[in-house]
Amino acid sequence: MKLRLLRAVALASAAVLGLSACTAGISGTAEEGKTMVLSLNQSETHPSYIALTGFGERLKQATDGRWDIKVYPNETLGAQQEVIQLVSDGAVDMLIASGTQLENLNPEFATLNLPTVFNSIDHQISVLRNPQIVGELFSSLEESKNLTVLGGLTQGDRNLYTAQGPIKKPEDLAGMKIRVQESDIHIAMLNAMGGSATPMSYGEVYTAMQSGVLDGAENNEVSYTTQKHNEVAKYVARTRHLVGLDYMLINSELLEKMNPEDRKILEAEWQKTVDEHVKLWLTDTQGAIDKATASGSKFNDVDDEAFRKALAPVVEGALKGEKAHALYEDIKEAGK
Ligand code: GCU
Repeated sequence: MKLRLLRAVALASAAVLGLSACTAGISGTAEEGKTMVLSLNQSETHPSYIALTGFGERLKQATDGRWDIKVYPNETLGAQQEVIQLVSDGAVDMLIASGTQLENLNPEFATLNLPTVFNSIDHQISVLRNPQIVGELFSSLEESKNLTVLGGLTQGDRNLYTAQGPIKKPEDLAGMKIRVQESDIHIAMLNAMGGSATPMSYGEVYTAMQSGVLDGAENNEVSYTTQKHNEVAKYVARTRHLVGLDYMLINSELLEKMNPEDRKILEAEWQKTVDEHVKLWLTDTQGAIDKATASGSKFNDVDDEAFRKALAPVVEGALKGEKAHALYEDIKEAGK
């Protein structure tokens, strides 16, 4: 583990121990309650930070101060890939991780990371709330990794953005190095869209675009502005190639040790957080578009059919085996 990470985790644990001792007036053992450490890679202005902070406040109130959540934003505790291991070990309690990270732990998650799989945010949220579709998947990492998926938060529509543009059709991306998340599906997706996929962690993208190592990236409008990518990539092509998905992961042992009443409260408050997040998401997306436009960004529509056609074989190729096909069909059925 990197030294920076070790130091951050030690600081977070110390701060939280102090906090739970004085706010809850208890020893902080998991059974009774504690202030849980939640790692996030977004800034304090991102809707996920705001919704998750609210989650902690409501949880604290509803459990009479027994349980609370302290959100550590901006990758303070490390990039998602590193923190997943920390949550698995119990050094950090919770984490928001992109679906692409889970695909690397259990390939069955890949179906939900496919381009074009969800029609809309509503469709995505209805799938996440359907235990018949995702119940088994969400507990699939408990035995092997000590991680439980509590649910998901939307990442909204992901679009493409570049320093040179506009991009209107797949051929316009020829030779361009475009950052994708660390996922085989997303590498195949971006290559099929006509560019040259470059996997990289989130926090490194701004500098890589600024220095010209990358020609662009793909993300939602909210990340585009909160990460200041609009300063270095002015052309946004509305490819809407996928509705991205973040998961809330919690250390399974901690969840099991919770008193069942408190666990029910945690789960109910989580569902309220998902609703709150969607509301914030919609207003912040428009705000992000306005802000980027005012700073000189140019948004353009694309040849949708050409991009859909390019993406179809990626979806087909990724659905390996009966289980993946069945999950895909269930998701599509829920979207009708
Ligand atoms: C979104 C998502 C993050 C993810 C990031 C990325 O911002 O919410 O969880 O890490 O995209 O592209 O890496």
